[in-house]
Amino acid sequence: MLRVGMLTSGGDCQALNATMRGVAKTLYQSKEKVEIYGFLEGYRGLMYGNFRRMKPQDFSGILTIGGTILGTSRTPFKMINEPDENGLNKVEAMKKTYRDLNLDALVVLGGNGSLKTANLLANEGLNVIGLPKTIDNDVWGTDVTFGFQSAIDVATNAIDMIHTTAASHGRVFVVEVMGHKVGWLTLYAGMASGADIILIPEIPYDINKVIGALKERTKAGKGFSIVAVAEGAISKEVADLPKKEKKAELAARAAKYPSVAYEVSAAILEHGGQEVRVTVPGHMQRGGAPCAYDRVLSSRLGAAAGELILKRDFGHLVCMVNGETTPVPLSEIAGKLKVIEPDCSMIREAKAMGICFGD
Ligand code: F6P
Repeated sequence: MLRVGMLTSGGDCQALNATMRGVAKTLYQSKEKVEIYGFLEGYRGLMYGNFRRMKPQDFSGILTIGGTILGTSRTPFKMINEPDENGLNKVEAMKKTYRDLNLDALVVLGGNGSLKTANLLANEGLNVIGLPKTIDNDVWGTDVTFGFQSAIDVATNAIDMIHTTAASHGRVFVVEVMGHKVGWLTLYAGMASGADIILIPEIPYDINKVIGALKERTKAGKGFSIVAVAEGAISKEVADLPKKEKKAELAARAAKYPSVAYEVSAAILEHGGQEVRVTVPGHMQRGGAPCAYDRVLSSRLGAAAGELILKRDFGHLVCMVNGETTPVPLSEIAGKLKVIEPDCSMIREAKAMGICFGD
């Protein structure tokens, strides 16, 4: 008998169900008798023994369905060693549930924070397999995370729609794209939708360069402009501040503007003659059905996770490296952020086409 626990943790994304289906189908294909336990609402389910005994039919018909059939929650890693409001030791509670259910393995579908907890549990002796989930694409070790391509499609579609109305009215539109501390989603969606200016955290922007690029476009007879700004984008003047002052400045800006897109738009408005509008697609970018690319990616990653479990080969994050599913030790990836290198070929090519990054 092989008993496998499964949970989805952190912000949801489009291909969580597709990935779990990949794992489950692979396990059920084996000659072994398999029992799968689904923990509800992420690590909380593991902590409080809140789970469902899954059946093969639970994994049928979910390939194309967004969200997660198990529910999810955020369990900040920095609080993991602090007792809960009732004094419960969270790590010990998770180990206890795992042992009480006599599990042979725990599959964690999660992003950076969740994978740090997965690594901690592996170090505590649990047999853990991680799967790289997030629209942000910032998980170290894998070329791509599931959810990323689907979110690119949503953000691209949003900017495409903005394009037509921006052109009709001759306006500047600042579209804010998710991505947490990194610019992957903004870079890809910006390029896919023909954004004129792309602002990402990895390349702090000089607002004068942004305004200069907008003026150049007007001079060249372009009646409108699209600025794709990552939610984590930061101006050069703030990025260059010492840590403490930077924190204070960011807090002051957060009190003044709802988000960075509003800050950028206010600066553009102050300097330029054009009307400016802000659009924030927000959580839409995590919603809806996974795109075809993600369905394949998730199925492959899920199947590879299933194969590792059947081989009793644990302690890995199942990554996609150069088109091949590849197990990478959780200890190697935990706590690392995959950022865009400002001098990478994609940025160089975007700049070669005239896209402004505000630097
Ligand atoms: O990590 C995915 C993500 O959507 C980020 O892009 C964003 O910063 C964050 O989650 C939003 O979190 P929440 O859903 O808790 O508002």
